[in-house]
Amino acid sequence: MAAGKGTRMKSARPKVLHRLGGISLLQHVLNSCAALQAARTVVITGHGADEVEAEARGVGLVFVRQVPQLGTGHAIQQALPALHDAAATTLILNGDVPLIRADTAAALARACDGEKLALLTIELPDATGYGRILRDPSGGVRGIVEHKDASAAQREIREIYTGMMAAPTAALRRWVTALKNDNAQREYYLTDIVAMAVAEGVPVVATQPASETEVLGVNSPVQLADLERRLQRSIAETLMEAGVRLADPARLDVRGTLRCGSEVEIDVNCVFEGRVTLGDGVRIGANCVIRDADIGAGAVVQPFTHIEGAKVGPQATIGPFARLRPGAELGEEVHIGNFVEVKNSTLGAGAKANHLAYLGDTSVGPRVNYGAGSITANYDGAHKHRTVIGADVHVGSNCVLVAPVHIGDGATVGGGSTVTQDVAPGKLVVARARQAVIEGWKRPQKPKKKA
Ligand code: UD1
Ligand code: MG
Repeated sequence: MAAGKGTRMKSARPKVLHRLGGISLLQHVLNSCAALQAARTVVITGHGADEVEAEARGVGLVFVRQVPQLGTGHAIQQALPALHDAAATTLILNGDVPLIRADTAAALARACDGEKLALLTIELPDATGYGRILRDPSGGVRGIVEHKDASAAQREIREIYTGMMAAPTAALRRWVTALKNDNAQREYYLTDIVAMAVAEGVPVVATQPASETEVLGVNSPVQLADLERRLQRSIAETLMEAGVRLADPARLDVRGTLRCGSEVEIDVNCVFEGRVTLGDGVRIGANCVIRDADIGAGAVVQPFTHIEGAKVGPQATIGPFARLRPGAELGEEVHIGNFVEVKNSTLGAGAKANHLAYLGDTSVGPRVNYGAGSITANYDGAHKHRTVIGADVHVGSNCVLVAPVHIGDGATVGGGSTVTQDVAPGKLVVARARQAVIEGWKRPQKPKKKA
């Protein structure tokens, strides 16, 4: 169910598209569903349906629309045409309860076993707002009463309905079709089917999740942030259990997947996005943002470095304050220093650009030394052009290499040069005004004020 508006988020974005650990709430649920290998996955959309359907990813998803949204029972009514009774069990999950685990959902479906009504329930210290589980003196489930419809005595009940259930599909169809909206919210409550099952003599069973976190819903920015911290804590714990040394597990954010080798150290306030791989012995300094990158074994990323779509070779040293942009591919033992930007460029083993430089659309040979303040002028206002710097080239400080241009192996570019033509291997090129000394020149002076 993903049709609700999410009024309390106070956001134009449909609630189920808000991000948790870098992916949408709905996608978390769909990812858990994928592990269940269901015969079919039906997503009920309504509020922001076009956007929600465009972003949802999964094999063989079927979308049904619920417009207007008249309650959870009404939502399931819209899905009935998409359900096949031959598929014995229908599992109902909420698009805004993102951290439900596949094994918990699978256990719920197993508890239904194609013939019982199975509810996922949990005891909460504060059950305010939730539907309460009503049990008879012998402990059997009799029904669910919504908070708004509950008596003072019923509101004392701590066991709540998490919003997830599994039901025999044919019976679900029968029950949901018969729902009425004579309640406090004038909604069709899916939860009313529990009493119907009991009346028919269909057994109602309850299963519990492994932890409360799995069943927490997102209704407000506060709850979203709370779940984000819980998710990040569990990601940090998984990494630490695998041997990764985190300076502070509370100051790590992984928005995607982070794979680490052995002896990896990560300092505080680092953000990893997309798919990031850190090889054995990699050290990441404080305050780095690393997205879709592959960092080779033994590489050191110094503080305040930003890396996106790049490959860093083994034993390389990057930063502090460096920026690697998409298509940067750095060989073994490359050094990239402070305020150096590299985009769509390859650097051969041992190449160095240590200070204040730009390399764009460039092939840099091994052992090149690229001087402070030097840049490749790769853009003529209409097109991008490549610069090729051969092996063992020495580029002095404050040079401009105007692409397309080729600097041959072993050549030296004198500091301050603007190079517009190819340089042959082994040559020294100097392309700047010759230094001149002006004899007898005097600095202008302000006229002296009269006393
Ligand atoms: C529901 C349950 C309540 C349970 C709680 C757990 C009912 C009547 N009540 O209450 O017993 O304790 O969840 O969180 O089911 N949705 C639709 N269409 C609608 C209404 C809701 O798709 O017309 C979707 C929402 O997007 C959401 C889910 O159903 O994903 C739950 O809806 P919500 O309004 O949050 O239900 P609650 O009132 O919290
Ligand atoms: Mg509600």
